[in-house]
Amino acid sequence: MDWEPLLAAARAARKNAYSPYSGFQVGSALTAENGEIYAGANVENAAYGLTICAERSAIARAVVEGARRVTAVAVVTAASPPSPPCGPCLQSLAEFAGPDLPILLANLDGERRELCLRDLFPIPFKLPS
Ligand code: THU
Repeated sequence: MDWEPLLAAARAARKNAYSPYSGFQVGSALTAENGEIYAGANVENAAYGLTICAERSAIARAVVEGARRVTAVAVVTAASPPSPPCGPCLQSLAEFAGPDLPILLANLDGERRELCLRDLFPIPFKLPS
């Protein structure tokens, strides 16, 4: 698949990350079932626990626009090796995607690693029906 549009959106969003406490900027972008791209960045707070991760801010933007399925996700940081989504973000992705969801981890130096949600989060929590 062509990751370039998602990577460009994630890189652009990362520039707007608000991370004065950690200094770690994260950008994320996802494609939804409607074909649109939604980007997010981390938004920190002086009350540290209120921080919103880049991935969950992208999910929130997609859902507010009416999207309900995530079909691909890219995450961009300056880290080497490229950083994966944290556990809560993986659970949040599992709400809107299946185990085959393609996930691209990338950094600013061109390092890339492609995985799927199953690789990073094999057993998501589901409410018993
Ligand atoms: N962060 C994300 O944006 N996504 C993740 O999946 C993990 C961590 C952010 C939160 C915080 O602003 C900074 O990275 C350091 O933890």
